[in-house]
Amino acid sequence: MNLRTAPRDGKSRSLNLSSQPHVIQRVFNNHEVLTKGWYPVCTSRELKAGECRSYTIFKQRIVVFRTQSGNLHALDAFCPHLGADLGNGRVIGEKIQCYFHQWSYSGEGHLVEIACRKKQSAAEAGETPLGQGLDQVKTRSYPVTEAYGHLWVFSASEANHKLPKPVTFEHYQHHELDALYIKEANLFAHHHIMMANGVDLQHFASVHNLDIAFDYQIKTDTPGIFDWTLRGEIPTDNLKGRLARWLVGNEFEYHVRFAGGSMTFITYGSDQRFMGFKLPSLQILWGGLPQESGVSKARIFLITPKRKGLLGKLQTQLIYFSAFALLAMLRDEDVNAFPHMRFNTHRLIKEDASLGRLIQLTNQLELSDWGTVP
Ligand code: FES
Ligand SMILES: [Fe+2]
Repeated sequence: MNLRTAPRDGKSRSLNLSSQPHVIQRVFNNHEVLTKGWYPVCTSRELKAGECRSYTIFKQRIVVFRTQSGNLHALDAFCPHLGADLGNGRVIGEKIQCYFHQWSYSGEGHLVEIACRKKQSAAEAGETPLGQGLDQVKTRSYPVTEAYGHLWVFSASEANHKLPKPVTFEHYQHHELDALYIKEANLFAHHHIMMANGVDLQHFASVHNLDIAFDYQIKTDTPGIFDWTLRGEIPTDNLKGRLARWLVGNEFEYHVRFAGGSMTFITYGSDQRFMGFKLPSLQILWGGLPQESGVSKARIFLITPKRKGLLGKLQTQLIYFSAFALLAMLRDEDVNAFPHMRFNTHRLIKEDASLGRLIQLTNQLELSDWGTVP
């Protein structure tokens, strides 16, 4: 199967339903629910000061706007008056105004002005500007933040975790990061399955021909965030292994950080040396975007510390090139496993323990109410 012919439409979800039914988990690979997490909507450049735009994340329509002074806000997109999409409106100062009848809302979602009442109240002194009951009108607002050259919206009124950094940069609070956005990719399955691939230890030998016996440790100190550290000896019994040892040393270490069931960071080679020199690690980020079909999309980024000067910029480009090549190689090898898959969580064996732990932890994540009918 090649990438062009690999199905990404989710149709296999309706196959073999009586003989091989879906194993439904509370959260993991469950395309009926959405976790509380950060979801990417657009690049920073796509929303300038004074602009607004609406996006659909899972089953929720959200308007994101940047005020004239540069503050970012995200609200439910349908106007509380008659329901027009606020993304068709305009930003005036620090407010967003609906196109249809020009009701205006603050960044927190409060109704602050009704255009026709404003004119009347100027004429009828003593009237409240909005009128009886309308002072209470409010639409829901959501946390929105800017990171990796992108805007990210949280799928609940309050974020239960900050948008994270790759685990290796966590202690460098002031370390500025550069990011290269690659593209929005159609995955071959739900993004939880693609995320789990990073800690599916059996498949490194079977799919990627990397027979490394990884030891792993899992940290779950921050709610909603799970960190895997994996380390193993590179084998010497094949050419790929011997070449890898020469390039990066005898052992290989990598980290996987899962955040809110939506973001996955992988840091490849966090402790590698070539001829005594420490090699830079390669960081890849996937921002999952679940779809109703059960097959998710993901926005893919490469991340590296910000470097100054011509030499620094050259180094950054070299790191991006290496990360991109690695990404392409792994994807080409994984592509034969995922399309047409009925992911089964009922027959995990002891060699699948790392994968099983991720499924268990993901099932404990908090759920967003986006897309659910109360
Ligand atoms: S629908 Fe928005 S102001 Fe009327
Ligand atoms: Fe893989």
